[in-house]
Amino acid sequence: MAASREEIIDMLKVAYSMELETVMNYIANSVNLDGVRAEEIKKSLSADVTEELTHAQQLGQRIKQIGGVVPGSAEVNIGGQQQPPKDTTDVTAVIRAVIAAEEAACAQYNKIIRACDGEDYVTQDLCIRLLGSEEEHLVLFQGFLKEYTKS
Ligand SMILES: [Fe+2]
Ligand SMILES: [Fe+2]
Repeated sequence: MAASREEIIDMLKVAYSMELETVMNYIANSVNLDGVRAEEIKKSLSADVTEELTHAQQLGQRIKQIGGVVPGSAEVNIGGQQQPPKDTTDVTAVIRAVIAAEEAACAQYNKIIRACDGEDYVTQDLCIRLLGSEEEHLVLFQGFLKEYTKS
């Protein structure tokens, strides 16, 4: 069953919060990690920060376009993602946290894509493009995990 406009706005706000939380954790991990093995991961996360921020901006534009208001900092719902590890050489923990965040983003976009069917094709199109971007991140970090967990 297609969702109402209000329900779509609420789902977009959830995605918006998730993108901003991702930005915060990717910045932290791209700065905090230590060691030779961390360099590639840091570079990759650093580049992703810009992409995730762009996703948040695109979601904000769409929220506005369909009659919603972009939430301020007191209203965004964050804190649910895996936090940067205490051990700053634990590259594998960071990779796993990124995979979890990207999987959650993919799940949220899939949910919105389904909810928009027959109701809002422009939002659906945006979320399909965002899903494609998150799937790329996911596969990249799944590849890193393969390499970093090889004994
Ligand atoms: Fe994103
Ligand atoms: Fe992503």
